[in-house]
Amino acid sequence: MAKIAPSILAADFARLGEEIADCDRLGVDLLHLDIMDGHFVPNISYGPAIVKTIDSVTDSFLDVHLMLSEPENYFEAFKKAGADLITFHIEIHPDPKACAKQLRNLGLATGISLNPDKNIDLVLPHLHLFDYLLVMSVFPGFGGQSFIESSIDTIRAAREYIDANKLNTKIEVDGGVDGGNAAKIVQAGADVLVMGTAFFRAADRKSLVTQTQAL
Ligand code: DX5
Ligand code: ZN
Repeated sequence: MAKIAPSILAADFARLGEEIADCDRLGVDLLHLDIMDGHFVPNISYGPAIVKTIDSVTDSFLDVHLMLSEPENYFEAFKKAGADLITFHIEIHPDPKACAKQLRNLGLATGISLNPDKNIDLVLPHLHLFDYLLVMSVFPGFGGQSFIESSIDTIRAAREYIDANKLNTKIEVDGGVDGGNAAKIVQAGADVLVMGTAFFRAADRKSLVTQTQAL
């Protein structure tokens, strides 16, 4: 059973309340919120005020993906805004222990992410500190990019490590995921699929959710 996490970045922001209500109605598992600072990634998205607004209209689990150069400066603000899970990048904190502890102390679920050009070995020794590993299957910064195929090997390697070490870390995959490649991503070992463009532009969102959750 895979979980689906629509990425709000691809929603119609002029109708954000309705878009969130649609996600709730369709029974999605998490809402993926992409926070970009124009520094770690070459794009700017939105901040805690929008997350707080989203939190005020849904009970959904808020999965906040921080693409920020100084993520730790914002953990508390996003917690106050309603985040349930905060993910930051290993590229920023190669030794992520202190940040993981900071998130735990705030009562948050912990997530660590790595970009597609990074070796999974960078992150494996730290996985016991994290509830989620967010495997980037595109270079972060923009929605609507194509899935990078080598991510499948990364997912497989992470799955093997997690199973061999009996960890509870969930594997979430982010970037270019759609109804066409979801099955092979889940077969490789993913637990949670982020879908931005694929979900919000789907002709039939309901069957996309049902089919993904059946994988
Ligand atoms: C990329 C973001 C992704 C993105 C996914 O920087 O982290 O979450 O919104 O969008 P799609 O599914 O359109 O690739
Ligand atoms: Zn993301």
